[in-house]
Parts: sequence; C-alpha cells; structure tokens
Amino acid sequence: MTYYEVLLLVHVLGVAVWLGVGVALLVIGNRFRTGGDNAGLKSLFDQTEWLTQRIFIPVSLLVLVAGILLVIEGPWSFGDLWVVLGLAGFAATFLTGILVLKPRSEAIAADLQRGGMTDDVARDIGSMFTRMRIDYTVIGLVVADMVLKPTGDDVGTLALMAVVLVAVVVLVLRSERSAPAAA
Ligand code: HEM
Repeated sequence: MTYYEVLLLVHVLGVAVWLGVGVALLVIGNRFRTGGDNAGLKSLFDQTEWLTQRIFIPVSLLVLVAGILLVIEGPWSFGDLWVVLGLAGFAATFLTGILVLKPRSEAIAADLQRGGMTDDVARDIGSMFTRMRIDYTVIGLVVADMVLKPTGDDVGTLALMAVVLVAVVVLVLRSERSAPAAA
C-alpha cells in the first residue's frame, strides 16, 4: 500500500463517518419532529452537541488535512476546479457550523436551561435539524465533485450540482414555512 493510498483511505473513511453519522441524526431528527416527540428531540439535541466535539470536528479536520496532503502527493493542483470546489464546500460547511449552527445551538441550550423543554424549543431544534439538510447536501455534492472531478468544460455536471443545491435549499425553506407554529 502506498502513502497516497493510505491518505485516500483515511480521507474516504473520514467522509463515510462524517456523512453517515450526520445523515443518521437528520433521519432520526425528522422522525421525532414529525411524530411530535419533544423528549426525543431534546435527547437528540444533547447527543448532537456531544457528537460535534467527539466526532464531527475531529473527523472533518482529518478529512481536510488528508485531502490537502492528497493534492500535494498526487498529480493534482490547488488550481484544479474540482479541488477548488472541494475546498469551497468544506469552507461553507465549516463556516455554517461556526457562524450559524453553534450560536443557534447555544441559544437553544440557554432556552432549555431557563425554561426546560417547551414546544417553542422543540420547534427550534426541529428547525435546526431541517436546515442541516442543506449542509449535508453540500457534503454530498463535494463527494460527487471528488468522484467526477469536473473541469470548466463539464457544464452539464456543474449545472446539475447547482440545480441539486438550489432545489434542496428551496425545499428546506418551503418545509420551514409550512411547519406548524409552536403552541
Ligand atoms: C466535505 C469535504 C470532502 C469530501 C466529502 C470529500 C470526499 C472525497 C471522496 C469520496 C473521495 C474519493 C474519490 C475517488 O476516489 O473517486 C475523495 C478523494 C480526494 N479528495 Fe476529497 N473530500 C472532501 C474534501 C477535500 C478537500 C478539501 C481536498 C483538497 C484540498 C480534497 C482532495 C481530495 C483528493 C486529492 C482526492 C483523491 C482523488 C483521487 O485519487 O482520485 N478533498 N474525496
């Protein structure tokens, strides 16, 4: 096994864990939300905070470092479009985590401490999980980008990826608008 193959294995295993654990959380969150299970949502919120520190942050950084080393070691360049898109996708999820999800979950944790679990808090947790679908779509699109390695000539592939992203954003925002208001 070459050094490159070890890096690729680490990179892909990291992606599998990151995406697998995340998608499982979203599916369970949707189950609790649609079933009106507030206790389930509260527990899932706690577990997600725990998993963020122990899985999501270290594994996503491992994916980034292995990806950068793969570019340095392999026949690739940081100017290749698919590498630029991978870095942009990573930056988008990283910044969403720090600038959007972290403050939101801190506000929810403060609400939970102040008044315990209420329908309002359950709605906020459910809404956070719904919005995280956009994040995981971006990660899924980065997987497609890494596998297909589009260049500027692959207009169809790039357009399809953009359409998928826009469609998911629209669907998430529409489902947010039609979600029942808290009692
Ligand atoms: C959300 C972040 C990322 C995800 C989900 C992801 C996913 C993947 C996947 C699934 C592969 C395997 C593709 C294949 O073998 O056909 C791969 C390979 C690779 N990735 Fe990433 N990646 C991410 C971030 C990055 C970043 C930031 C870089 C570079 C700075 C990078 C560089 C590479 C390289 C060089 C390969 C090897 C390509 C090959 O040997 O064919 N990745 N990535």
